[in-house]
Amino acid sequence: MEVRAFEGPFGAEVLGLDLTAPLTAREREEANRAFVENVVLCFRGQTFDRPEDFLAAVRNLGDPMPPVTATYRLPGFEAIEELTNRAIDRRTGDRTPLKRGGSWHTDHSNLERPPKATILHAIEVPETGGNTEFTNLYLAYGALPDEDKETIRGRRAFHAYLSRRAPRRLLTRTKDEEKNSSGCWQPLVRLHPETGRRSLYLNPMRCDAVEGMHREDGDALLDHLYGHCDQVRFQYSHQWQPGDVLIWDNRSALHQATFDFDQSRRRYLHRIMLRGERPVLAT
Ligand SMILES: [Fe+2]
Repeated sequence: MEVRAFEGPFGAEVLGLDLTAPLTAREREEANRAFVENVVLCFRGQTFDRPEDFLAAVRNLGDPMPPVTATYRLPGFEAIEELTNRAIDRRTGDRTPLKRGGSWHTDHSNLERPPKATILHAIEVPETGGNTEFTNLYLAYGALPDEDKETIRGRRAFHAYLSRRAPRRLLTRTKDEEKNSSGCWQPLVRLHPETGRRSLYLNPMRCDAVEGMHREDGDALLDHLYGHCDQVRFQYSHQWQPGDVLIWDNRSALHQATFDFDQSRRRYLHRIMLRGERPVLAT
């Protein structure tokens, strides 16, 4: 197994590892270490005969977790979702494509225990365009001026399912799904449970308020932090190849899908999230 860093500020690819075969304890440990250290890790050239095989491969990296909404579940699989550029909200009948994932976010941060990671398997992807982009939140935190670090130290933000400030729509939830995803306070600076490093933890889709601040001041602080994060020096853009299995760390990265390709062509991936822990506030 070879881990080769991507060009750019972070991320790596793994060559010479077949995820359809059982991994040894050592391979599993190396893969998990490479994942947390690189934030984004791509296993190239993986083909699964059945969705069960993808699920089995993913279990080497953690415990699969069902998404809040059941809308896009692959039939017969609680934890596998179908991800396409043609997704619409079937519950409202609105035919406008949702552009799922089409702005910066981290997955399910409105849950008290958000998924530690998300994994995609590329099945049908455009030859160019349709990248998934990532922002490294360790780097973004590290580059903040001291006065900003001081402002956010010890503070939390409220993450709603859909913030009043969100730049796009999300799926409609059933009443039961609403009950299980109403929102919670999360640290703005998060201590990573495995690396021990500090990162920003924020979500432009969900952050709705900053603890101890009036709305205008909280909004201004969030916008300032979002602007800071959106710098190429913290970012990696992944051009998909069929067979890529890509895992990212939701605790230390933002991500977004792009739709800069011919939308009459289908982009189709399978998605699995991995259970995570309650975020720890860095003091
Ligand atoms: Fe996402």
